[in-house]
Amino acid sequence: MKTVDQYNFAGKKALVRVDFNVPLDENYNITDDNRIRAAVPTIQKILDDGGAVILMSHLGRPKGGPEEKYSLIHLVPRLKDEFNTTVMFANDCVGPEAATLANELQPGMILLLENLRFHKAEEKGDPEFAKDLAALGDVYVNDAFGTAHREHASTAVVARYFPNDKVVGYVMQAELENARRVLENVERPYTAIMGGAKISDKILIIERLLDKVDNLIIGGGMSYTFIKADGGTIGSSLVEEDKVELAGRLIAMAREKGVQLMIPVDSVVADAFSNDANVDTCLSHHIKPLWMGLDIGPNAREEYAAVIANSKTILWNGPMGVFEMSNFSVGTEAVAEAVVEATSRGAYSLIGGGDSAAAVNQLGYADRVSYVSTGGGALLEYMEGKTLPGVAAIERNDY
Ligand code: 3PG
Repeated sequence: MKTVDQYNFAGKKALVRVDFNVPLDENYNITDDNRIRAAVPTIQKILDDGGAVILMSHLGRPKGGPEEKYSLIHLVPRLKDEFNTTVMFANDCVGPEAATLANELQPGMILLLENLRFHKAEEKGDPEFAKDLAALGDVYVNDAFGTAHREHASTAVVARYFPNDKVVGYVMQAELENARRVLENVERPYTAIMGGAKISDKILIIERLLDKVDNLIIGGGMSYTFIKADGGTIGSSLVEEDKVELAGRLIAMAREKGVQLMIPVDSVVADAFSNDANVDTCLSHHIKPLWMGLDIGPNAREEYAAVIANSKTILWNGPMGVFEMSNFSVGTEAVAEAVVEATSRGAYSLIGGGDSAAAVNQLGYADRVSYVSTGGGALLEYMEGKTLPGVAAIERNDY
């Protein structure tokens, strides 16, 4: 697979697929810019070579037409600050305006195209739409690891039109390397921390990890499906009834394979899903009717921190509680602190995208863990052993 380092961009217009699907607040301020920061080295390399950069991305999940809240125009000031060069914006990713701006683009300049998903053709992987995008550039760079699990026009199909001029960027390279570090030849003890609301999103990865890890720590909303499977009484906590049996099987599988599967011994509970609700702490197996577990409790925090402290390889995906509400963020913070501490003593730690990456960034710990992935679903699918279409399209010559 060819990389940006093996390509000289002098005099070329590089069509760069980035994943700028970043969270914005109600005033369109970027609340987590990890994905933008991650893309800087690839863009800079192209500019330094004497090339021009045409950036394309999606933002959110618009319904196939323009929606102001999903416009990439909100990212232009951030890019201008970062690169100190001309940053132009095309109000549509294809069509006459994009073509004219791409044509006028000089070496050292950046053109950002409007949200690709304002066209239904993007997600359909429409070859005609991909061809229109391809016409804008001389070389295709895929640096959108976070979207590499999607077989869309801009992430995969467009590569067909650049048989000899398609490369991956630094984000893609770093992501694949770091994911391999928790899949192959890992240093032990190896601990995976899985959180988040739903077990259904993580079944395949949990099954795969049971063959690799020494400890599997469970937190977040999905804990209560495990606790129910383990015979607990969980009040009104989130539960996926149709996954209780599966959770029970995963507990049994862990036992058979000698993996220590840990579910939170206690929980911070509330009488409503709100930061203003009444709050208490109790054993996770004995939650009162109408109360719900919204974070791991103090004993679970301590147990989890002790296991993390003793680990040499750590993979963390998903928060331990309702992190966005201050009353239920302590468990996630405690796990983040434990991971940072273990990393400072030589452990390798990979924070797997989505909410846990946002938590680590918000807490200011991004530089104190080994790697914060820009991928949510993409990282999980890669770790599940699936082929990522965005990577395959660059790797294969017959795509
Ligand atoms: C992500 O945030 O995981 C990626 O940007 C992909 O977004 P999607 O799930 O809307 O395809």
